[in-house]
Amino acid sequence: MKDKLIVVCGAGGFIGGHLVADLIRQGHTRIRAVDLKPLDRWYQRFDDVENLTLDLQGLAACRTAVKDAAWVYNLAADMGGMGFIENNKALCMLTVLINTHLLQAAREVGVERFFYSSSACVYAHDKQTDPTITGLREEDAYPAMPEDGYGWEKLFSERMCRHFTEDFGLLTRVARYHNVYGPHGTFDGGREKAPAAICRKVINAKLAGTNDIEIWGSGEQTRSFMFIDDCLQGTQAIMRSADITFPINLGSEEKVSINQLVDIVESIAGIELKRNYNLDAPKGVNGRNSENTLIRKMLGWEPSISLRTGMEKTYAWIYDQIKSGASKDSVVNIA
Ligand code: NAD
Ligand code: GDD
Repeated sequence: MKDKLIVVCGAGGFIGGHLVADLIRQGHTRIRAVDLKPLDRWYQRFDDVENLTLDLQGLAACRTAVKDAAWVYNLAADMGGMGFIENNKALCMLTVLINTHLLQAAREVGVERFFYSSSACVYAHDKQTDPTITGLREEDAYPAMPEDGYGWEKLFSERMCRHFTEDFGLLTRVARYHNVYGPHGTFDGGREKAPAAICRKVINAKLAGTNDIEIWGSGEQTRSFMFIDDCLQGTQAIMRSADITFPINLGSEEKVSINQLVDIVESIAGIELKRNYNLDAPKGVNGRNSENTLIRKMLGWEPSISLRTGMEKTYAWIYDQIKSGASKDSVVNIA
C-alpha cells in the first residue's frame, strides 16, 4: 500500500489533518489532501503531499480528487457540535452531495477502498432519552429516527455506501464516530464540540480572573468522548479490515455527564467556577454512549485512552492557542 495513492478528503479539518500526518509518519509516499478551505486555513498542512482546494459537493471536483486513487477516506463535511448542527440542518444535509459524488467518481476510476465517516448521530432518538444509557449497539440505528438534518444525512450516506458495494462492487468501510476531541480541532467560532468548548471557557475564565462559566443544558446529559489517537488507529484498522463490511461504532465506552467533563477540565486548570446552566441552549440527546462489543470482536481492539489523559493534551493545546491569539474557527460558507 505504501506507494499507492491515498486520498484524504476534508484534510484541512480536524480528523483529516491528523490522518494525513499519520499516513506520512507511516511512510506513505503518495498522499493527496483535499479540502474546500484555502490552504492557509487548514488546521494542519504538509508541503510534501499534494494539497488541493476543491469544493467536493460537485462531481467534477470529486473526479479530480480521486483520479488514480487506490484508497479514499471521506472526512469532508459541513458540520460541527450541537450549536452548529441544531441551527444549520439544510447545510448539514447538503453534505450528502459530497459523499454521493465521491462515490460516483470512486466507482468510475475503480478505487479499491472507500472510507466514510459516519456518526453516533445516526442512532434513533428514542434510544437516547435516558442519561443512564449503557451503550448504543449498531442495530439501534433502526427503526430510523436519527438527529434531524445531520443524522439523516449520515444515515442516508451510510446506505449509499452499502448499495455501491452491493450493486457496483466498490469496497466501502463505514465508522460511526462518537464525539472525537484533541489538539488541532475547532475550539471557537460556533462549530466546536463540548470538550473544546469547555476548555476554552475555563481557560478564558482563568485568564480573565472571572468566576462563572456557562454550560448548555442541565449538565446531567451524558456522552462519551474519543481522543483523536484512538480515532486514527480505529479508522485505519476498519479501513484495512477484510470483513467489517457494515457500519461499526468507533467510540469510547467511558461515559460521563457534562458536569463530570467540566470537573475534569477544572481540575486540569486548577480552578473551580460557578456554573450557570443555560436550558435554552442546543442540547441534543439526553444520553449517548458507545457499545463496543462488535469492534472488540472484529478487531480485538477498542478505544482506550482515558478522558483525563486526552483532555490534558487538548487543554494544553487550546491554552497555547488562546494565549497566542489564534482562532480555529472552521466556517466554510458555501451555500
Ligand atoms: P472538520 O469540520 O474539522 O473537518 C471537515 C472538513 O471538511 C473541513 O475542513 C471542511 O472545510 C471540509 N469541507 C466541508 N465542506 C467541504 C466541501 N464541499 N468540499 C471539500 N471539503 C469540505 O470535522 P472533523 O471533526 O474532522 O470531522 C470529519 C468527519 O468525521 C466528518 O464527516 C464528520 O461528520 C465526522 N464526524 C466527526 C465527529 C467529531 O466528533 N469530530 C463525530 C462524528 C462524525
Ligand atoms: N458544543 C457545546 N458547547 N456543547 C456544550 C456546551 C458548550 O459550551 N456546554 C454544554 N454542552 C453540551 C451540549 O448541550 C450537549 O448536550 C453536549 O454538551 C455535547 O455537545 P457537543 O459536543 O456539541 O455535541 P454532541 O455530543 O451532542 O454531538 C456531537 O457528536 C456527534 C458524534 O457523537 C456532534 O459533534 C455531532 O456532530 C457528532 O456527530
